Amino acid sequence: MANDSSLDRLLQGLRAVAEGTRLRILALCAHGELTVTDLVEILGQSQPRVSRHLKLLVEGGLLERQQEGNWAYYRLSERGPVAALARQIVDLVPDSDPDHALDLKRLEEVRAGWAIKAEAYFKRNATNWDQVRALHVDEAKVEGALRRLIDREAPGELLDIGTGTGRVLELLGDKVVAAIGIDRSLDMLKVARAKVFRAGLRQCHLRHADMNRLPFQPGRFDTAVLHMTLHYVEDPGAALAEAARVLRPGGRLIVVDFDEHDQSELRESQAHRWLGFSESRMTRLLEQAGLVAEAPERLPGKPLTVCLWTARRPANDLLSSGSSDDQPRKEVG
Ligand SMILES: C[S@@+](CC[C@H](N)C(=O)[O-])C[C@H]1O[C@@H](n2cnc3c(N)ncnc32)[C@H](O)[C@@H]1O
Repeated sequence: MANDSSLDRLLQGLRAVAEGTRLRILALCAHGELTVTDLVEILGQSQPRVSRHLKLLVEGGLLERQQEGNWAYYRLSERGPVAALARQIVDLVPDSDPDHALDLKRLEEVRAGWAIKAEAYFKRNATNWDQVRALHVDEAKVEGALRRLIDREAPGELLDIGTGTGRVLELLGDKVVAAIGIDRSLDMLKVARAKVFRAGLRQCHLRHADMNRLPFQPGRFDTAVLHMTLHYVEDPGAALAEAARVLRPGGRLIVVDFDEHDQSELRESQAHRWLGFSESRMTRLLEQAGLVAEAPERLPGKPLTVCLWTARRPANDLLSSGSSDDQPRKEVG
């Protein structure tokens, strides 16, 4: 039974959405995260008007606002008493409604603009990435192995740490209940957002965050993934401990990274902090993070071997009352 305050919140939510433009905004945000600028372009209304509508939808608990650098992104609320209401309302809006159909067409145009920007970014970085790709086993093999690993048990709610351009979300997004990709690079997140949007992965979201200080409650996720990220990280032990903290007891961490190697030029040319991880070092780091490590799957390449590590938080592990608040953070280190 709802108590008075949740009834009040429900009423506030219903009032907030009972207006034409706000209903349109809600329906649009169900297709992914959008900025005020995107919505101004789609709706053809002034920025102050759109901002006012957004404020009311956020206050009504229907939308969440997430600040990333100079940009604020809006998406359907995932939590709170009004989140289910928001989802039910957008499900009632038929895609065939002429106004909504026109909004969706404009949304496609806005997305196409993102895709062009994303492509330019890829072009600028492609040479760098190709250089590293050439040193290890075909990416398709690594991704196939990751999908098989994920298939061993339902991934539930997944966190992709250091999501970069969102490749892991694209690869696993159809298997998860929900997924969040975090990264500290706003450029990377822009590309990832365009990719997730294009793939129609409504259950996947992006968030600006530092992996050493994840803005999530302890035990929130069933699965966490660190794909080709740990060798860039200053303190891999701290990052693994933080990943372990946000896993539920019994949850899985999958780390995909290089086996220990001697390609020291990668430090200079690609800013790699670590020349891969030996089996003994990774096992030690995972255990120090409170996880139980399994033997890695190895994909030998010349000269770089890729390893897929699985580690689990013990099922009887107690959740700490950690202070992270599931709120977006404005600044990251
Ligand atoms: C090589 S990319 C890998 C991206 C992605 N996982 C993939 O495999 O395609 C490494 C990513 O880690 C991110 N990163 C590095 N340190 C980070 C930190 N402390 N917090 C969040 N992201 C970080 C970088 O911005 C970059 O996008």
